[in-house]
Amino acid sequence: MKENFLSLKSNLTQSAEGWEKFYSKPNPWGYVGDFNDRIRNQIIINLVRWSKRKKALDIACGEGSLTKALSPYVKSIKAFDISSRAIESAKKNYAAENIEYFQQYMKEFSSKMGTFDLITCAEVIYYLKPQEIEKVLAEVQKSLAEGGYFVLTTRTDYWFGFDEFVELLQQYFTIVTIVPVWRPDNLFYKAVKRAFSIFSPFLDRVYRSWLLSIDPRKPGMCAYVCMGLAAVS
Ligand SMILES: C[S@@+](CC[C@H](N)C(=O)[O-])C[C@H]1O[C@@H](n2cnc3c(N)ncnc32)[C@H](O)[C@@H]1O
Repeated sequence: MKENFLSLKSNLTQSAEGWEKFYSKPNPWGYVGDFNDRIRNQIIINLVRWSKRKKALDIACGEGSLTKALSPYVKSIKAFDISSRAIESAKKNYAAENIEYFQQYMKEFSSKMGTFDLITCAEVIYYLKPQEIEKVLAEVQKSLAEGGYFVLTTRTDYWFGFDEFVELLQQYFTIVTIVPVWRPDNLFYKAVKRAFSIFSPFLDRVYRSWLLSIDPRKPGMCAYVCMGLAAVS
């Protein structure tokens, strides 16, 4: 396990002040609402839209694009982030009647917040130290209602290697599926992403409607891939 993640990735920060500064301009990543963001959200939605998930929690929601995308598929969704600016922006740009946004540190997250049928944690845990990651996983496991589902998206090449990370997850969850992705600095990925950005409006529509047309409950169809983690009971 790498000793000091922050020294390796100096552009990453984990202090609240750092995040506040980061969110001083809206959409600091530049990706909110773009093709990749929408496709990622659609993939996550596809995992969860087949069963009714009443109560959801989005951990470290940032400016709320995933939270908003999930909101039609759940009865209520709570979403928190360390940055009050991100939360303000989420309330302004990604509001819905069933979403409750609030500012909170990850370390304050515990099963005392209640149980949830769906918990999402997207692109966050690599900002935490390994011990903190393990604590979050343990709290998520305790916070999942029976049959609850945890969807985690993360890079596995920071703190942990892939195998080590999967082993860690298996202590807490039954792994349903893992979706492999290219590293963002991979040249092939960059080329494909560039091509996608040029053809984005068209491809986006085609891909989204294709994803939405897949209904594994219809005769002759089946669910081939599904991703996510369910708590080990
Ligand atoms: C890469 S963004 C991901 C945002 C959102 N989940 C998404 O996928 O679009 C990482 C988010 O984690 C939040 N974050 C980082 N450390 C945190 C902590 N200790 N507690 C709560 N939120 C934290 C940051 O403020 C930031 O919004």
